[in-house]
Amino acid sequence: MTISEDIKEDEAKKIDFNDSSFRANPYQTYENMRRFNPVCQVKPDDMWAVSRASDVEFILSHPEIFSSTGIDLAYDSKWLRAECRVPRPVISQDPPDHRQYRKIINGAFATQAMQSMAPLMKSIAESLTPNLMQDDPVDFVEQFAYPYIAEIMRTIVGLNDEQSLAEIKEWVELEEQITFKRPTQEFIDAYEAVTIRQHNYYLKVFEKRLKTPKDDLVTELVNAEVDNKKLSDKQLFGLMSLIMSAGFSTGVQMLNNGVILLSRNPCLLNHLAANISLIPDFVEELLRFSPSGSCTMRITTQAVKIAGVTIPEGEMVMALLASANRDPDRFNDPNTFDLHRSDLKGHMTFGYGIHSCVGAALARLELAVAFETLVENFSKFDCPPDDQLAWEKSFFVQGVSELPTRFHQF
Ligand code: HEM
Repeated sequence: MTISEDIKEDEAKKIDFNDSSFRANPYQTYENMRRFNPVCQVKPDDMWAVSRASDVEFILSHPEIFSSTGIDLAYDSKWLRAECRVPRPVISQDPPDHRQYRKIINGAFATQAMQSMAPLMKSIAESLTPNLMQDDPVDFVEQFAYPYIAEIMRTIVGLNDEQSLAEIKEWVELEEQITFKRPTQEFIDAYEAVTIRQHNYYLKVFEKRLKTPKDDLVTELVNAEVDNKKLSDKQLFGLMSLIMSAGFSTGVQMLNNGVILLSRNPCLLNHLAANISLIPDFVEELLRFSPSGSCTMRITTQAVKIAGVTIPEGEMVMALLASANRDPDRFNDPNTFDLHRSDLKGHMTFGYGIHSCVGAALARLELAVAFETLVENFSKFDCPPDDQLAWEKSFFVQGVSELPTRFHQF
């Protein structure tokens, strides 16, 4: 081993994805990883991290080597009671099973169907805007980002007549904490109780839609067939749980990240106010520049060599989407936020390949409507400096748990 390889290995050992300074700003570390350790093991748990755009693309294009089934190690895990073990179809499936389930949700999430939600989104955003019209800072997460996304999501999964936002919050928060490792018994008890409660709510919703069909996603799913058979209640529950959790924090944190960015760049805020039609481009560049999720996970089905490093069979691999978005081999001047870049949609925030996000059209729309409403109503946002923000502890999520912000009116 040469001295420089020694240094590289030493450097890699220091990378801790749970470190608080990494949580606040992972981008310098990603840059070092892309340059010196594009494939390496990091803390926690010695997981493999892959940081270059071309390697991330390779991983996500080869499900036969990088399987998605590892995701169910968390939701279908043996430490849960049988009725609380709910596999997540689609996201944890490889071909050919994945194709069949993906087909049934593709139609329900078509761009056209999502466009019809724009008036509802606008009215939710406008109803929440007065919460921000205070002389003192208000918590943007609690007053806007969270209720905005929660209201949209519970409409999509048909829970709006059934369940309060507080109950949904409790479930989503537990859902997001579940990992591949056995949690504490206290957590397991709370998770099981909430899972059973959610299942019962959904059973009511499924029954209602079977009796009285609506023009909505739930009706489409309760009538869907795989191999000429309707889905079981448990499979339907797994799908609804997947949709709810996949669209939740991802949306909340994109809103938070956008408010932080606009607070640091008042000229950009003014520019958007004068050119509202640029909001969709702002959203697209925000998705690249400040994504709410850092990575997606795969498990290796065989030993595989990437960038000269062999990852053994059966290992968990993080494909670092947020790092791929800042790869200079993919984007010119990647650390500059540029509304006018030619390849605005070339980012990997919605993943890549067969599992790329089915809710992307919905997410783009909800973000555009929210930012349009904020930009129309406020001339300046003041967020605390980065070192005073409460960064999320999970390294999967890039965002904050609260965001005290003063919103200045025109
Ligand atoms: C800005 C918000 C969002 C981001 C950043 C995001 C990101 C992603 C990413 C990276 C994947 C790929 C995961 C993988 O390859 O393992 C994915 C898949 C998925 N997303 Fe999203 N997502 C967002 C919003 C939504 C919304 C609003 C929904 C639904 C309401 C949704 C539903 C899904 C589903 C069902 C999948 C699984 C697709 C498959 O495995 O074929 N997402 N998302």
